[in-house]
Amino acid sequence: MSSSAATVALNARDLLARRAAETPGVISFAGGLPDPALFPKRQLTRAFVSALQSNAAAALQYGWPEGSLELRQWIAGELCSRGAKVSAERIIITSGAQQAIQIAVASISDHARIAVEAESYPGALEIFRAAQAQLVPLTDQAGLYYAMPSVSNPRGSRMPDPERRALLARASVSKGFVIEDDAYDGTCFSGARHRPLLAEAPERVFHVGTFSKTLCPGLRIGWLVPPPRFAKRALRNKQASDLQANGLAQALVLEYLRSGHFPKLQKRARAHYRRKLERLLEAVRRELPQLRFDEPIGGFSLWLESEQEAEDTELLEAAMQQGASFDLGRQFRLGRARNLCIRLCFSAVPADDIEVGVSRIARALRQVHPPARPSR
Ligand SMILES: Cc1ncc(COP(=O)(O)O)c(C=O)c1O
Repeated sequence: MSSSAATVALNARDLLARRAAETPGVISFAGGLPDPALFPKRQLTRAFVSALQSNAAAALQYGWPEGSLELRQWIAGELCSRGAKVSAERIIITSGAQQAIQIAVASISDHARIAVEAESYPGALEIFRAAQAQLVPLTDQAGLYYAMPSVSNPRGSRMPDPERRALLARASVSKGFVIEDDAYDGTCFSGARHRPLLAEAPERVFHVGTFSKTLCPGLRIGWLVPPPRFAKRALRNKQASDLQANGLAQALVLEYLRSGHFPKLQKRARAHYRRKLERLLEAVRRELPQLRFDEPIGGFSLWLESEQEAEDTELLEAAMQQGASFDLGRQFRLGRARNLCIRLCFSAVPADDIEVGVSRIARALRQVHPPARPSR
């Protein structure tokens, strides 16, 4: 990410993250960024030329707010192969998953209480807070529930079946709705694709997807499948927001999908991220044995927690001085956690920097919280 002197950071946390990103030599485990080494530059260049040569009008002219029919057909095919019977007509192409979440919230009148997982995606929490919603745990009753059942951010875990069923049952009892954020489903290291909640309760689920994690985020192409009774309202909200998703980006993604290279890219990406995760796990086990974690099944990050109470900004400052950065756990939580929790994103860190980065964080942790001396 680049910025300029005119860039305004939104808050202190943002400022730290920007400083880390812009300080040469800092190994940054912050931000859920895909590895730019995986962006299929040559194939996207070909797809770009081909999109303009074959159908410049579709790529450059205004389009309908729901987006390209062919692209929606491709997404519908993917969802059907995962068990959700969705026709292309029900899908709205959005400017990333972020906008899909925003449209879903704007389309539901009862969003005074939104229930979220114990750790959740900060970008969604920001939308909910901006909508003045009261945020409560996912196990509470609410008008709206937000979850990442397939592969969660930050934990990279799958919601167990009983919890999925319980979530849908709670939503049904409270006559509420569920935003299913499926952004990371395509990143499962095993290649498994999960049956979405959408397949179980299409009348209650706003399904959100994106090409950001599996292709590239710069094109800003995602999608929303609203429940049928919200179709018109969601489409009106999309149109009011920005008329349509970027037409050239849609044409480019479509041409790229037609080229047949996407499955190969996904396979390569899974192996690539798996290797990085393994290096990170090895380094964390060696250097940070005081931190607990569950091995992720996919996604871009590892969630680490300690029993210890700790001042996490102090640790981040110390880590920055050592030349490493990470995401503060509190960004992902509703309340301020007393114990130390941090998110390490391994996806965009060069593989050979992972061990060095972790040992810098370990050094910072020893500096901020020296190990207790054994008492005599
Ligand atoms: C869980 C989750 N949902 C949605 C998004 C936003 O994705 P997009 O780039 O498609 O707007 C992100 C980005 O980090 C994410 O982690």
